[in-house]
Amino acid sequence: MSSPLLELRHLSKSYHGRPVLADLSWTFRAGEFVAIMGDSGVGKSTLLNLIAGLDAPDPSADGQPSSILIDGVPMAGLDDDAATRLRRARMGFIFQAFHVLPHLTLLQNVALPLLLNGLPTARAAEMLDAVGLAGRGNDFPHQLSGGEMQRVAIARALVHRPALVLADEPTGNLDPDTAHSILELLHREIKSTGACAIMVTHSHIAADMTDKVLQLSKCGIQETTNVNRFKQ
Ligand SMILES: Nc1ncnc2c1ncn2[C@@H]1O[C@H](COP(=O)(O)OP(=O)(O)O)[C@@H](O)[C@H]1O
Ligand SMILES: [Mg+2]
Repeated sequence: MSSPLLELRHLSKSYHGRPVLADLSWTFRAGEFVAIMGDSGVGKSTLLNLIAGLDAPDPSADGQPSSILIDGVPMAGLDDDAATRLRRARMGFIFQAFHVLPHLTLLQNVALPLLLNGLPTARAAEMLDAVGLAGRGNDFPHQLSGGEMQRVAIARALVHRPALVLADEPTGNLDPDTAHSILELLHREIKSTGACAIMVTHSHIAADMTDKVLQLSKCGIQETTNVNRFKQ
């Protein structure tokens, strides 16, 4: 089994004294494509935001220090610059809040993570090809459909070959056919780069494309049976 990529230890988060996540612990490994399901408001986006560093966990749960470790390194132990560098290099985000930037072309949008990491930008055009947008690099986001926009978001999230991909309902606003092709694309790209991907979804069809389904509830995280694993 590969070594842990992401470890959640006793993770808790309250807003205004109201607990949303309580004492969650889980280990995610490289190469795993994991779905997180659960009722609306149960804390799925909160969990992804904590992993992404957009929000900070409560310092401890029942006296146990609450921590998020990437490659065994506690995120809380890093200063802001180091945490930013680590996220930039090791993570890719498919979040509503990280929408495609309207004033940049598609190619510029996809090249952004490469530029920020000081990497050569040639792979941006390759990724646009891979997501079915070859020849559209000079278009602007307003010229795209919702499905095409999501393809750009996926290309941008994966272009720098992040070890960890976080996706919050990546097919939430798409029709079923478009959603299916987006998920196939995401699956193919994740498997070809060996990344670990954590995808929040309400869709059982989407969840069936993953290796593992985790159910988030007031009782914590539990792995549920994923029919797809028995088909392979
Ligand atoms: N920044 C915030 N401030 C206050 N409450 C929040 C904040 N973010 C989320 N919440 C609350 O935390 C709960 C879980 O929200 P969320 O993680 O978005 O749920 P989910 O993604 O599972 O639908 C909700 O009750 C929500 O109102
Ligand atoms: Mg949510």
